[in-house]
Amino acid sequence: MVSLDVFGTDPHGRKVHVLTIGQAPGPVLQLLDLGATMHRLEITGGDGRRRNVLLNLATPEDYLASTAYLGSTVGRYANRIAGGRFQLDGRSYQLGVNDRGNHLHGGPDGFHRRHWTVAESSPDEAVLELLSPDGDGGYPGTVHVTARFRVGPDRLRLDLSATTDRPTPVNLTSHAYFNLDGDEAGTIDAHRLTLAADAYTPVDDAGIPSGELAPVEGTPFDFRQPRPIGSATRSDHPQVRAAKGIDHNVVLGDRPGPAAILVSEATATRMELHTDQPGLQVYTGNFLDGSARSAGGRLLRQGDGIALEPQLFPDSPNRPEFPAPWLAPGQTYRSFVEWRFVTAGA
Ligand code: GLA
Repeated sequence: MVSLDVFGTDPHGRKVHVLTIGQAPGPVLQLLDLGATMHRLEITGGDGRRRNVLLNLATPEDYLASTAYLGSTVGRYANRIAGGRFQLDGRSYQLGVNDRGNHLHGGPDGFHRRHWTVAESSPDEAVLELLSPDGDGGYPGTVHVTARFRVGPDRLRLDLSATTDRPTPVNLTSHAYFNLDGDEAGTIDAHRLTLAADAYTPVDDAGIPSGELAPVEGTPFDFRQPRPIGSATRSDHPQVRAAKGIDHNVVLGDRPGPAAILVSEATATRMELHTDQPGLQVYTGNFLDGSARSAGGRLLRQGDGIALEPQLFPDSPNRPEFPAPWLAPGQTYRSFVEWRFVTAGA
């Protein structure tokens, strides 16, 4: 085990730890046991300079007060469930609601607020575990979750897995916000984004999908060719207006390569995101309103970073036409996300 340093103390007097994996000049990750949170990720940019590319907060108190899920591992169900309600095996379940009458990212006390246990660690790997009891947040079944973070010379990978003792919906993801020019650099408007998605799931004003898989063709969601993010977030498309930017799930097609590519020409830095998930929530930090201060002491504002959250589609417990979210005893939920950093000049 590598040593755990104290990051701070939560409002109940409980210590929050930070552990560091990876080695310069490769990616170096600082991980918190609170929320299995990716707090800092230092990489070498294409310009040869090291910088932290994750938006973050300064203290455990700030993380617990925030509803931005900065860097956190979210669950039991990432994204929204309409009204917090679903039916399973003839029974109705009511989950906690925390977003315009809907359940978001596990509800009022989601996995991002929990103290995870560091089960294993080495200089380049850490395994965090969480036990979510039967009835947790209104969900049925005791769920055991594992988050394995592994750093390689040019990449960071997160493998998520879960088992249950009763059928329950499970949808886990990482809610890291990236700014490839550094967390203090300003907006990601000029970053170029490419998405392996021909369709997206349009939503109502509260972010609940209509069920339609709409073609991206001719919309601000068309990132099949690299485009600056600002060109989409400033479009007056009704879906963008309602969300105050991009806050949408795109439908990832079958592909041999990355689901998303993010490039900053300013620092010649390129990130590829690989995943096995069918959807990717693309969120341009629309609710970052300057009320929270980053660990670097700067107020976080809209567009300072972009979250690319691989997951199932929103509200899939109520949408039999979407990929199914159900986990049963004897099965293992698995998903992965891998971020590869290729300096643009390399
Ligand atoms: C997700 C949601 C957004 C927002 C952020 C956190 O990405 O889709 O609407 O809630 O989390 O602020």
